[in-house]
Amino acid sequence: MTGPPTAALRIRPGSRRIVLVGFMGSGKSSVGPLLARALDWDFADVDACVEAEEGRSVARIFAESGEPRFREAEERVAAGFLARDGVVLAVGGGWGAAPGRLRSLPEGTTSVWLRVSAEEAVRRCGIEGGARPLLHVPDPLEAARELLRRRDPQYAEAHLRVDTEGRTVEDVAQQILTLLGIAPGGIAMAERQ
Ligand code: S3P
Repeated sequence: MTGPPTAALRIRPGSRRIVLVGFMGSGKSSVGPLLARALDWDFADVDACVEAEEGRSVARIFAESGEPRFREAEERVAAGFLARDGVVLAVGGGWGAAPGRLRSLPEGTTSVWLRVSAEEAVRRCGIEGGARPLLHVPDPLEAARELLRRRDPQYAEAHLRVDTEGRTVEDVAQQILTLLGIAPGGIAMAERQ
């Protein structure tokens, strides 16, 4: 598939990959493929790659082997993609929240924080039941609030921030393209191909 002819050229000078960070339910895995299509880049979802590698779901990895094992796999998989060019990467909510991580991204990486409130995140994730072990607790809203309190300062170190509250994934993707200096209409153009 070919994206809008000049899209890849207009992206922030020197930017060769985009990493989408933010809390669970912020829309990273939905927005990422739209961006990748508009840029004619690859899309990769770290959680999905870890699941494929392990042959089991994130929830099962947490339950059977513990969170540290998941974090190890997540870090390794994400590092592999951050060594590639022309990729839009969606990482799990914990990855971008590791202290200092967004300050030490490889050169050529643009980080984008998709912001979501605890209420909206729990509402969106609730639809998927127990897929998110950290929210599969008696009071998911309180858990989300507490995690966000600790994580927001780390997410805030991303190059760009975009609010996702009450917005469609197309709208969010379009705003990111606009912030990156890509002509409005990029998403619509990519969708038509
Ligand atoms: C996590 C987020 C999840 C997944 C795991 C842990 C987190 O990914 O990696 O359940 O620590 O916030 P999403 O952000 O894609 O839901």
